[in-house]
Amino acid sequence: MRLRFKRRRFGKIAIASTLGTIVGSLKSKTQAQEKPQSHPNSVVDVKLRVNGVEHAVKIEPRVTLLDVLRERLNLTGSKKGCDHGQCGACTVLIDGRRVNSCQTFAIMHTDAAITTEFISRRTRTQMQDMT
Ligand code: FES
Repeated sequence: MRLRFKRRRFGKIAIASTLGTIVGSLKSKTQAQEKPQSHPNSVVDVKLRVNGVEHAVKIEPRVTLLDVLRERLNLTGSKKGCDHGQCGACTVLIDGRRVNSCQTFAIMHTDAAITTEFISRRTRTQMQDMT
């Protein structure tokens, strides 16, 4: 008789604690889902030096350099191919180094020299000779 009472009490405690855990996890999940990742209207002023020209743009911090170049500055020399860093169609030079602009945020390159259109010295010389 005494052993049976202990089992019942243990069962009640186990059920109560399980329910408490489930309710607690549901609450935390709902709170996490309600919390916005970033403010949707947050924009920042950014100055980008592209092809030697300084541009001031207002962008969201999560915008890629490729999207800023193509959609905000209308510099369509770099293309959006795969948008996953695999094809290289979006390649630009940032401080002389090749970078896939679809894989980097524009806000990270405020002090950099970005080059989207470049020709070799040989081609430039040939073109100058033609004129
Ligand atoms: S679009 Fe393909 S690597 Fe950037």
